Amino acid sequence: MFYGTHSLSLYKKLKKMKLVFATNNQHKLDEVRQITAPYGIEIVSLADIHCQEEIPETAETLEGNAWQKAHFLQEKYGMDCFADDTGLEVEVLHNAPGVYSARYAGSGHDSEANMKKLLQNLAGEKNRKARFRTVIALTIGGKEYTFEGIVSGKITTEKRGEGGFGYDPIFMPDGYDKTFAELGNDVKNQISHRAQAVGKLGAFLASIS
Ligand code: IMP
Repeated sequence: MFYGTHSLSLYKKLKKMKLVFATNNQHKLDEVRQITAPYGIEIVSLADIHCQEEIPETAETLEGNAWQKAHFLQEKYGMDCFADDTGLEVEVLHNAPGVYSARYAGSGHDSEANMKKLLQNLAGEKNRKARFRTVIALTIGGKEYTFEGIVSGKITTEKRGEGGFGYDPIFMPDGYDKTFAELGNDVKNQISHRAQAVGKLGAFLASIS
């Protein structure tokens, strides 16, 4: 069928691409939806596709975990999808806690305990260089793509700020004299590891939509 210039762009606008995001985290969904909204891409969550089971996340790298989740969904539901995984990598600790960031101090996803353990492990240490790294694994139309976002900074010697989550009160991004928790979401979402990875995903989706 032939489409003139206007009807072709109208066709593209009407044709919504549907992608499953392997999460039920509302904060992440909002962030990704905000970035992909201008491109007419519909992002659906695990709840939207009635996926209630625990998706395995047992790999030893961020890339491995992201792909494990994306492949699980693709194989089970046969839908185009993407998954993410994030870790805090501390240079002097050989990139720990990395893939184990959520459960650094135990299995409880306890941010206070995780920060306390990290500050203890860095006590007296001068090299406090660290970075957050996010990996996104996308499988779409039978092809696979990986996107990465990194924000470099340092671990402070004590907690500062009330905002954010996870390790935000002890992570100070390069170029700022405030922690992520002090900077607040507006600034954080412009420079963060996740924002960068999601931005790359969004730009890619825009290029193929
Ligand atoms: P996830 O892969 O996004 O679930 O992240 C794994 C863990 O990394 C989280 O449980 C947090 O401890 C930590 N983390 C991820 N993103 C951030 C962030 O933006 N700020 C602080 N900690 C984070």
